[in-house]
Amino acid sequence: MTNTDIKWQQHDINAQRREALFGHQSAVIWFTGLSGSGKSTVANALEQALAAQGKHTYLLDGDNVRHGLCADLGFSAQDRSENLRRVGAVAGLMVDAGLLVLSAFISPYRNQRALVKSFIPAGKFIEVHIATPLQVCEQRDVKGLYKKARAGQISQFTGISDPYEAPEAADLVLDTSVTSLQDSVQQLLALLKERQIIS
Ligand code: ADX
Repeated sequence: MTNTDIKWQQHDINAQRREALFGHQSAVIWFTGLSGSGKSTVANALEQALAAQGKHTYLLDGDNVRHGLCADLGFSAQDRSENLRRVGAVAGLMVDAGLLVLSAFISPYRNQRALVKSFIPAGKFIEVHIATPLQVCEQRDVKGLYKKARAGQISQFTGISDPYEAPEAADLVLDTSVTSLQDSVQQLLALLKERQIIS
């Protein structure tokens, strides 16, 4: 619901000014994939590489956001939508702040990812599918959640009892069971250069 009595305020210091100050473009690198696929790990390594180059970054992580901003939300399709709507809005503000935003959310539904994309200026939403197979994620089971999901102790668990809709046209697809972390970071840096987000 949009209140028509509230108008957007245009400020003098805008995204372009902030980008010029920082010396790089702002963008969202949106990692999507199953729990345990390696989203946070890859995002964390990319953030380290970008920080080492003096870039201004922020990493939005599903597990962290769900402790605060989205602590009231569960995992129904409706709650996941609301989770991503809030995160998309925050990512949009951070892009306006001139940052390179990395985000690690399962974001299992295509329409939810499309909604997030709609919050971000054209060309600044880079979708990265961490396409590590379910079997591998389940074998890793870093948080022990797959075991619980199989035992019926967690309902609506993505990949087990809830859907994951893979992107149809991701900007980059990485499978962490066959691509090393270093390789993944190199591919991501190359993509950001190709898109002229960083130089
Ligand atoms: S999303 O679907 O709304 O994008 P999000 O990335 O925020 O999910 O949170 C996923 C994390 O919550 C997982 O990495 C896992 O640690 C935890 N989790 C707890 N319950 C579930 C569930 N039912 N399905 C998926 N992840 C869950």
